[in-house]
Amino acid sequence: MDFASSQVYGNYKILSKLGQGSYSHVYLAELLNTNLRYALKVQKQKKNKEKMKRSNQIFENEIAFYNRIKHHPFLIKYIESFECHGTSKWYSPFCIVFEYKEGCDAHKKMTNPEEEIPEQLGLTWFTQAALGLAHVHSNGCMHRDIKPANIIIAGGSIGGIARLCDFGSTKEDNQGAENTINAGTQRYFPPEKLFTKGDLPFLKS
Ligand SMILES: Nc1ncnc2c1ncn2[C@@H]1O[C@H](COP(=O)(O)OP(=O)(O)O)[C@@H](O)[C@H]1O
Ligand SMILES: [Mg+2]
Repeated sequence: MDFASSQVYGNYKILSKLGQGSYSHVYLAELLNTNLRYALKVQKQKKNKEKMKRSNQIFENEIAFYNRIKHHPFLIKYIESFECHGTSKWYSPFCIVFEYKEGCDAHKKMTNPEEEIPEQLGLTWFTQAALGLAHVHSNGCMHRDIKPANIIIAGGSIGGIARLCDFGSTKEDNQGAENTINAGTQRYFPPEKLFTKGDLPFLKS
């Protein structure tokens, strides 16, 4: 297990794990002395200085994004962020707190054999994610890593609402095609990026 259930970051006590990405573990956490629950994104410790530096840039970029962009119903709701000192001499992880709604990311929904997603619901989620992205673009930003694992399906009672998350790769520009180089997840690159002149496409997961 990569966490102790009694672990505390700042004022948040870890209850269970919700997911993880390349740079973070995301936990269900409770604000101390309350029964309020949040999703807590905790920076992973990377093995070397260079990777840690890159990870710090990504977290600083994500926090700057939430502080700049007004909330929108189809974006994950930011609460606060802090650096957690004292975890170890070399590791003071960035932590980002989000509103928690029961649910999971769209990739987990799509690959769960026990869950069939009706076409109409899939289209609704797609539309919601697109509207969230339009809000990001209208604020002069590009997300640069749109994929099902970065779309949270929040709340289940009426099928859930799609909310974009993971704004660590955002760029303050919504036009320059050169800004999409060296960003994103290869499996989800658009065809025009894969099929550049004379190149054969190749995929890494
Ligand atoms: N609010 C949330 N509710 C449930 N799961 C979440 C939430 N936020 C993130 N996750 C899970 O954690 C994973 C990693 O979060 P993400 O912000 O994409 O981190 P990374 O930057 O490391 O990719 C997501 O793919 C998802 O599975
Ligand atoms: Mg992610």
